[in-house]
Amino acid sequence: MISTRNIIKNVMTSEGELQILQPISFEVKDGESVAIVGASGSGKSTLLSLLAGLDEVSGGEILLDGEPLHTMDEEARARLRGEKVGFIFQSFMLVQSLTAIENVMLPAEIAGYKDAKARAQDILEQVGLSHRAHHYPNQLSGGEQQRVAIARAFIGQPKILFADEPTGNLDAANSDKIEQLLFQMNKDIGTTLVLVTHDNALAQRCQRQLTMLGGALTETTTASVIAQGA
Ligand SMILES: Nc1ncnc2c1ncn2[C@@H]1O[C@H](COP(=O)(O)OP(=O)(O)OP(=O)(O)O)[C@@H](O)[C@H]1O
Ligand SMILES: [Mg+2]
Repeated sequence: MISTRNIIKNVMTSEGELQILQPISFEVKDGESVAIVGASGSGKSTLLSLLAGLDEVSGGEILLDGEPLHTMDEEARARLRGEKVGFIFQSFMLVQSLTAIENVMLPAEIAGYKDAKARAQDILEQVGLSHRAHHYPNQLSGGEQQRVAIARAFIGQPKILFADEPTGNLDAANSDKIEQLLFQMNKDIGTTLVLVTHDNALAQRCQRQLTMLGGALTETTTASVIAQGA
């Protein structure tokens, strides 16, 4: 589902070019669940954006479901994201001018689903937010906004779901509910899961655990170092 070869990410800062990611090479199989853990600032969100085609690599190659993200322009990547990818942002990224249900419906409407509204209602119910469907993001708590963002990522039943700390703002009961939904989708429709989390229990529920350290990725499941360099 994902195959990367020596991907790196550099950004320009006032102090010159900064390398955020060391060369990273790894594979994720169709239907796998993978947790990425590591300290704040180690590069987890940066890696997730590259894998999902939200940002461009500075070097190296990424195949997402067989398609070469590193050669595609933003338009082509947007098409691929629309067809195959769900993404739960660490900062939610809800559209502030749309209500909760409108935010959830948006990807389904873009994809042309006739039953977008019914689907959105159903998923909002599953994340426990039916009673907040017509609230705008600024009228929702952090955890409620996170659950709207999760519902929006679920609506298209994506082939692959990237989730950046999906339970970071939730209490224990809601975290359990969201975890169940994530793994149910993984089991029922074979959605590949790539999660960034600081929650050790959630990381352990995934089949594999990878650790980011200073922009380098290692597989902690087998304690083997994943290619850092050539
Ligand atoms: N556009 C940018 N310009 C400069 N530095 C950046 C940029 N994007 C990310 N960084 C830096 O790269 C590093 C990795 O950032 P990233 O957001 O990927 O970390 P993270 O592992 O997701 O951290 P957290 O657990 O706090 O979310 C950080 O030190 C960050 O300051
Ligand atoms: Mg992050």
